[in-house]
Amino acid sequence: MLVLGLESSCDETAAAVVSGRFDVRSSVVASQVDLHREYGGVVPEIAGRAHVERVLPVLRAALREAGVGLCDLGAIAVGHRPGLVGSLLVGVAAAKALAWGLGLPLVGVDHVHAHLYAALLREGAIGADAGPGDDGVFPALGLVVSGGHTSVYRMASEVDLVRVGATIDDALGEAYDKAAVILGLPYPGGPEVDRLAQEAGADDAAVDLPVSRLGRDSLDFSFSGLKTALLYAVQGVPRPAHRGQGDEASALPPPMTPERRRDLAASFQAAAVRAVILKLERALDAGGSVNGLIAGGGVVANSLLRRELAALAARRGLALRVPPMRLCVDNAAMIAGLGAARLARGLVSDLTLTPVPTTGC
Ligand code: KG4
Ligand code: ZN
Repeated sequence: MLVLGLESSCDETAAAVVSGRFDVRSSVVASQVDLHREYGGVVPEIAGRAHVERVLPVLRAALREAGVGLCDLGAIAVGHRPGLVGSLLVGVAAAKALAWGLGLPLVGVDHVHAHLYAALLREGAIGADAGPGDDGVFPALGLVVSGGHTSVYRMASEVDLVRVGATIDDALGEAYDKAAVILGLPYPGGPEVDRLAQEAGADDAAVDLPVSRLGRDSLDFSFSGLKTALLYAVQGVPRPAHRGQGDEASALPPPMTPERRRDLAASFQAAAVRAVILKLERALDAGGSVNGLIAGGGVVANSLLRRELAALAARRGLALRVPPMRLCVDNAAMIAGLGAARLARGLVSDLTLTPVPTTGC
């Protein structure tokens, strides 16, 4: 069966066709990054309007790329939570209209859970030998690190998951993007910080930045302290009011040379990734049999995080599932795939489906 997926939760309008549960027949993403760049972040009203303009052209392109027509589809899946409500509304309205007009099942999908499903998808070839699927990976530990979410899950299957940890402040991608602003790098900053951190000669121990642990058994994350520490390393530590004039010089930071910027990016990246790996280690130590480690979300495109996840999986003897780069960021193939998996278990929605700003769990 072919499932059409629609995604419009934030600033990407996407449509995709998935065959069976895992085979990506097409995946089209229209990014709005150029529309939001001058504001340094996503403007909800602009995002919602741009989705309205793009949803039908993107849908047509996905059908064309897959070489199918509307009449070949077996179901319509849509990311209906979490996200910007004005943006979600566009995808949900389009999906409901298609499902009703074509007389097809409608499947609402949680965008954050779909980021995990992206790691199971197969691109290009179709068939049993073509790639990951879900063989032997469950039960699994799941990690989603994106611009809006940083969460750890225990997963009995792709549709049966429980969140066991989440950020208490910034999401990891958000922290990366703010770090990029502090370092004077262009928007969106995560990939820029990653690129600088990988430059030859980058010293990730040049600046001592904090790795948040929270409580001894906590599986939650906090990145606001790391972000503030980076800010102080760049701008200098604010002097307490009672100190004398003589301390002023000691509060001045070293000058921001290209080398210093590179070292700060590497130090930030090392501390951020260490915090993630530390929590995954804790979750694994906390018990519960796990066969696999599944990661998804935009920050899984990060070079150091990918290396460290591979090292962790090797140390623990776990099957690692990480999406290819283009399926790490927002896309509709992950929505269609998880939609197909939910449909196979009878987890369908009806035409009362509405956008919800928060994740399901
Ligand atoms: O999953 P995604 O496309 O959107 C959300 O659902 O939030 O993730 C986007 C986030 C942005 O914060 C972006 O800066 C970050 O992923 N990102 C990266 C890298 N590539 C994308 N962060 C660090 N290193 C990267 N290479
Ligand atoms: Zn996302």
